[in-house]
Amino acid sequence: LKIRVISGPNLNLLGTREPKVYGTQTLEDIENALRQEARDYGVAIEFFQSNHEGAIIDCIHDAARSGVHGLIINPGAFTHYSYAIRDAIAAVGIPAVEVHLSNVHAREEFRARSVIAPVCMGQISGLGALSYSAALFALVKKLEETRP
Ligand code: DQA
Repeated sequence: LKIRVISGPNLNLLGTREPKVYGTQTLEDIENALRQEARDYGVAIEFFQSNHEGAIIDCIHDAARSGVHGLIINPGAFTHYSYAIRDAIAAVGIPAVEVHLSNVHAREEFRARSVIAPVCMGQISGLGALSYSAALFALVKKLEETRP
């Protein structure tokens, strides 16, 4: 199985970005932990980060061409308004899990709404880096159920 983890805008600043909200781990720290977990599950994993909506869409399209089986996506603020990213996930039909470090349901009202979540298997929010770990765990289980 091959999993691709996509991180959206401003997540390259993790570590120094609003540490009270997002913690002190860098994106590289989170990715390194996930790489180890993926190794333990025996699945391949790859990572992509961009601050640009179009680059994220291209990456989702490329996932289909590259035989990626599952996506973990933290769309950052695009979560709340990018119909284009939503449509890209729907278009490729690759199972996806939406993740957030912070609890988007406990913050400003605009963060509670995700236009992406309806085209995802599920959404995991508020567990910090463990949101990604939980997503990887669930995605691997789900994919193994459907492709033994
Ligand atoms: C976020 C939550 C979003 O509302 C915010 O715009 C982000 C990060 C999170 O991981 O908690 O950039 O996706």
